[in-house]
Amino acid sequence: MPDANWYSREARRALQRLLPRVAPVTGDDPVFIARAEQYFPTIFRLLYDLYGSHYDFFYWLEQILLSAAQMVADRPADLKALDRQREADPTWFQSEKMLGGVCYVDLFAGDLDGIRSKIPYFRELGLTYLHLMPLFLAPEGDNDGGYAVSDFRRVAPALGTMEQLADLARDFRAEGISLVLDFVFNHTSNEHEWARRALAGDEEFQNYYYMFEDRTLPDQYERTLREIFPEQAPGNFTYQPRIFKWVWTTFHRYQWDLNYSNPAVFNAMLNEMLFLANQGVEVLRLDAVAFIWKQMGTSCENLPQAHWIIRAFNALVKIAAPAMIFKSEAIVHPDAVMSYISPEEAPISYNPTLMALLWEAIATRDVKLLRHSMEKRFALPPGTAWVNYIRSHDDIGWTFADEDAAELWMNGFDHRQFLNRFYTGQFPGSFAKGVPFNFNPVTLDTRICGTAASLVGVEQALDVGNPTLLDHAIARLVLIYGVAISAGGIPLIYLGDEIATLNDYGYRNDPAKADDSRWAHRPRFDWVRAERRHDPTTVEGQVFQWLVYLVSLRQQNEAFGSGNTIFLDTGNTHVLGYICGGQVLALANFTERRQSVDRRALTGRIHLPDAAYDLVSRQDIPLAGEITLEPYRFVWLKIG
Ligand code: GLC
Ligand code: GLC
Repeated sequence: MPDANWYSREARRALQRLLPRVAPVTGDDPVFIARAEQYFPTIFRLLYDLYGSHYDFFYWLEQILLSAAQMVADRPADLKALDRQREADPTWFQSEKMLGGVCYVDLFAGDLDGIRSKIPYFRELGLTYLHLMPLFLAPEGDNDGGYAVSDFRRVAPALGTMEQLADLARDFRAEGISLVLDFVFNHTSNEHEWARRALAGDEEFQNYYYMFEDRTLPDQYERTLREIFPEQAPGNFTYQPRIFKWVWTTFHRYQWDLNYSNPAVFNAMLNEMLFLANQGVEVLRLDAVAFIWKQMGTSCENLPQAHWIIRAFNALVKIAAPAMIFKSEAIVHPDAVMSYISPEEAPISYNPTLMALLWEAIATRDVKLLRHSMEKRFALPPGTAWVNYIRSHDDIGWTFADEDAAELWMNGFDHRQFLNRFYTGQFPGSFAKGVPFNFNPVTLDTRICGTAASLVGVEQALDVGNPTLLDHAIARLVLIYGVAISAGGIPLIYLGDEIATLNDYGYRNDPAKADDSRWAHRPRFDWVRAERRHDPTTVEGQVFQWLVYLVSLRQQNEAFGSGNTIFLDTGNTHVLGYICGGQVLALANFTERRQSVDRRALTGRIHLPDAAYDLVSRQDIPLAGEITLEPYRFVWLKIG
């Protein structure tokens, strides 16, 4: 590869040539020119590393810059104002005020107008960020919950129109809520215009995907690929009899992987992305980031080029729509999760390690793996933040690091087998009602589905009618949400969890859903149950009141916005401890028994006063000797 001087010299030359041809598209907008000058060297270098060997590299470079310029020209004035505001405050998302929610448009409120009518509900919860899951045109029937997109510029007609979506984004903004949408950029559906043209024999569009004449190369690739959905979609390639070709399909047969080694794909997807930015999207969730680059002999996950593509997109967004930031969805090994997080790549990311280990800790009643992993893995680079969540629309995979387990003399494989038995209710004494997802008979891997309430034991307690079990179950749900809300980063509520929504087994009767148990935790939002949220004698009311209360504590204390969290050994393996922003000491009992923590175990790490105010119980707690925690209770002690 050329050296740094070569890149900067060539970038300068290229920009000199390109700018006079591109800037006029924006009316020679000085803001565009200044941003282009700032970010072009980065873009040039990344695109050169990706596409420099293509004979028409400079043609594509110009096209890509033109795409950005055109989107600047099209960008509405209010979003340009937001761009300036966010450039002045680039870490706006690192605030204690931040609270995320996520839902499906149809299941939560019918359509986009329905979502607008729920703004008061979002306000009641304190949401400042709302992720509407894929709402784009998608194939009828099975479409992976919308994650098979047929047109990135069209909203599914049953939900509304793109104009309505842009209006909704504006209304949200007026209420202090940022619109979050998916960018399902690893693949399109087989009904996307590009796929249709490819199927009609158009080679230009066949090159948008990975197509193979016979099984030779697919077989070679398969040797090192894993299967994401081994039950419903075994293998990674699907035969297309119309064109006698195999197409790469990592996920389902109707989700065709895009070929980012083709610069035309990069440019086409850049246009789709900036189009969405111009509708008012403020956080773009990069779906399935790990998979976007393929190379023979590798797992085709987390390859360096995947990072270069995201970084190049990021720099282009900084030119055309800097108000929008990326969120990475990488549900992979913790080191790989981390590798996507930076201001130059994805400033925010799901925290699947914390998520999985919270479930691990409530099953084992032991926080050692959680604590150990968080001690090693929670700290992030400046200018970035975790999105801390308990449940999403996907399965729970036990993606903790085997190395972390081994350091505690635990066997990762065996532990996962235990967790799967526990969460599918097969382990004696389990409180969980989970449903297995995609058992792989070769690796024996399984993942878990189920709503948070069903997994913490609410469903089982209601089934057997045992009030003590019910109290414990509710307390578990509040406990783990309490960690997500206080740990630093953006807490994200999977809407429905706040009213303790239970599993819905109805999907088993729907042919388009029956073989995908993730539908167990994707029920229609039950507004009748939601009505009970103010009644503290109901399960809905207890969970809702608790979550809203914890959110309000978070939003009033800047300690929870800093993201500067230190996990510590409390000397009691059943009690999780962490310090938020140097000011609040959180202690959480992960068992149904009373636990205590010895002051001396903590004082090595922190200065402890003799008493401290507990934000949660609004009482002064003596800290002179032992600190006692009732079953599943937690304290947030003001110590600074
Ligand atoms: C992401 C989505 C998941 C989908 C997959 C393929 O992981 O969260 O629901 O199945 O991408 O698009
Ligand atoms: C992939 C899939 C997602 C699944 C995850 C973990 O990211 O898209 O559905 O949850 O892998 O297995």
